[in-house]
Amino acid sequence: MTDRAFTPALGRFFPTRFYDAVATLLRERLWRSLLAMHVAPRPDDVIVDVGCGTGSQVLLLSRIEPRARLIGVDPDPDVLAVAQRKAGTASAASTAGAAGAAGTAGIAGATGIAGAAGTAGIAGAAGAAGTAGIAGTAGAAGVADAAVPAAQWRVGMGDSLEELLGAGSASTVVSSLVLHQCPMAMKQAILASMFAVLRPGGKLVIADYGLQRTKPMRLAFRVVQLADGVADTQPNADGVLPRLMSEAGFVDVREAEVVSTISGSISIYVAHRE
Ligand SMILES: C[S@@+](CC[C@H](N)C(=O)[O-])C[C@H]1O[C@@H](n2cnc3c(N)ncnc32)[C@H](O)[C@@H]1O
Repeated sequence: MTDRAFTPALGRFFPTRFYDAVATLLRERLWRSLLAMHVAPRPDDVIVDVGCGTGSQVLLLSRIEPRARLIGVDPDPDVLAVAQRKAGTASAASTAGAAGAAGTAGIAGATGIAGAAGTAGIAGAAGAAGTAGIAGTAGAAGVADAAVPAAQWRVGMGDSLEELLGAGSASTVVSSLVLHQCPMAMKQAILASMFAVLRPGGKLVIADYGLQRTKPMRLAFRVVQLADGVADTQPNADGVLPRLMSEAGFVDVREAEVVSTISGSISIYVAHRE
C-alpha cells in the first residue's frame, strides 16, 4: 500500500502549529518517559521513530543516549521543519555555541541512510545537512564527544520504511500517537513495514490510544474521534493493536503500560522481531 493521504498531527480541524502545546495537556512527559524506559536506548542503536511529528520523542531518546543514531520519519514536511528547528535548538543549547547546530542533520530526500546528509534537503535544509552526517558522525564538526542530540529527519509514509531506510537496518522502531489516526489497511501496512525495517532481535515500542477500558476513558476519547474520525480511531479503542502486531509477525507482544489522560488512555506496547 502507499496511499499518500494522511491525517495531520492535530487532526482535521486544528493547525499543526498548536500540536506541542496541546500535547503537554495529555500527560506527555509521563508516557514519553515510559516509552523511553522501554526503549532503553544503547550507544550502537539505530532507532526509527515512525510518524515522528515535531520530534519530541526523538529528542528525548537522543538526550538519554546521544550516541544512538536516531531517524524521524513523517509524511508531513511542515512538522519535520518544526522537529528540525527544535533539534537545532537542543543541539545549540547542549554545546553552548554554533557548533551545536552541526549535530543535527537536515531533512533528507528519499535516498538511503548513508547518503542522506548530503542529498537534497527540503526548505533550504541542504546547507545544514552538509555540516553533519547522521548521528555519530558529528566528529567532523569537532563535537563528537559532547552530548549533542543528533537526528536525521526523513519525509515518508510509515509503510515505506524499507524503501526509505533499507530492510533490517534498525535495531529499534518507535511510534507514538500515529496508528490511531490511520485507516485499518494503513495500520497493517505500517506494522508490516516496521517489521521489515527491524533487524532480527529488534524491538518495537508503540505509544498510542489503546483499549479504552472504562466509561470515562471512552467518553474522553471522543475528543480524539472528533478530530481524527471514528472509522480510523475506533479499532484502537476496541484494543486491536496487539492482534495487528502479532499478525505482522511480532512476538512477545504485550501492553506494558496504560496511562489515563483527558483524551483517553494511552497504552505502551512492546514487541520483538525474532
Ligand atoms: C498525533 S501526531 C504524533 C506525532 C509524534 N509521534 C508525537 O508523538 O508527538 C501523528 C503524526 O503521524 C503522522 N502520520 C499520519 N499518517 C501517517 C502515516 N501513514 N505514516 C507515517 N506517519 C503518519 C502525521 O503526519 C503526524 O505527524
